[in-house]
Amino acid sequence: MLTEIKNNIYWVGYVDWAMRDFHSYITDKGVTYNSYLIKDEKNAVIDGVKAPYVGDHLRKIKKALGDCKLDYIICNHAEPDHSGGIPALVAETGATVVCDEKCQVILEGYYDISSWSFLIVKTGDELKLGARTLQFIETPMVHWPDSLFTYLPSDKILFSMDGFGQHYATSSRFDDQVPLCEAMAEARTYYANIVMPYGKQVKKVLEAAKDLPIEMIAPSHGVIWRSHVAEIVEAYQQWCECKPKAKVSILYDSMWESTTEMARAIYEGACCDGVEVKLLHVRRVGNTRVVADMLDSACIAVGSATLNQSIMPAMASALTYLRGLRPVGKVGFAFGSSGWGRGGPEDIQKYLEEMKFELMRDEPLKSKWRPTREVLEECEKMGALMAQKALELAAK
Ligand code: FEO
Repeated sequence: MLTEIKNNIYWVGYVDWAMRDFHSYITDKGVTYNSYLIKDEKNAVIDGVKAPYVGDHLRKIKKALGDCKLDYIICNHAEPDHSGGIPALVAETGATVVCDEKCQVILEGYYDISSWSFLIVKTGDELKLGARTLQFIETPMVHWPDSLFTYLPSDKILFSMDGFGQHYATSSRFDDQVPLCEAMAEARTYYANIVMPYGKQVKKVLEAAKDLPIEMIAPSHGVIWRSHVAEIVEAYQQWCECKPKAKVSILYDSMWESTTEMARAIYEGACCDGVEVKLLHVRRVGNTRVVADMLDSACIAVGSATLNQSIMPAMASALTYLRGLRPVGKVGFAFGSSGWGRGGPEDIQKYLEEMKFELMRDEPLKSKWRPTREVLEECEKMGALMAQKALELAAK
């Protein structure tokens, strides 16, 4: 179905309800690839779709265009979930690809572009379509070098490619047609998993765009923001600085439940009025949802049993993933158990040091075999200290 998001501006994207694994991002709610068609004296598509869906994409474009031809394909971002269909789109329509220099280089790396015609743009450039004119803003490293926003001043629409996106399959196109808490939760998960390493760049873009009148943010994934623009911009302002909430997260994995007992004791100690506490078994919750909770947690305790003189495999996966996402300003400590060997809690300590956590203990909190009453009391005490610290950090 075509949705006219504004007069003569159509959504021509594809909703992939079955998608569950987006290069290891577990997409419990599917994925939407947004693409927008602007009809004017010259016609332009903004963003493509993933290669397998280009047939559907073309059908929607032709339905909206009728006998008119497509003149431009605006490629805001060359990652294949948006550019995969562009070779077929160019072959079918002969449209000129509009992108920045870095995007052209990446497209050349993926596809045979020798017969394509290009219009290379940079910040401040404009493209007149007729009554409407597009403006371009380079947004490097949000989240690839080639990232570009396209702004339509006549309608106050910002086409923000991955920025403000969500992996979210829905038949609704707008933020006011779905539960806001669900759209915001998926936007937070998306930010944490895709954009978090580039907070400084996001901050610069928010600063550069702060004077643009914006009535609609149309990302390349998920719902379009039209009723809650201020809320999603405010959320990005918080997320780009990893601004802590009064929130404590306890990540753990266990073999014979000794580390589980410790994690639960930390949880009991942390639970108090005004503090959100999450107890996350990393092997069961999975990396995608775990890192979403890391984004806004002030304090994080991380624990593992010892297996083969190191940490549990799922914990190694979670911490390696989290380290790559470069969370900033986190406070916490390592904990865990061992039997006849050692290595689990010690290896966690190394990860936390690498991620520049402010450590609440010089050494991990450890138990041997089963945690003793004294160890569990220490766990509770550390939980309470984390809650107190989280309240202090959130109040700053
Ligand atoms: Fe949705 Fe960076 O691609």
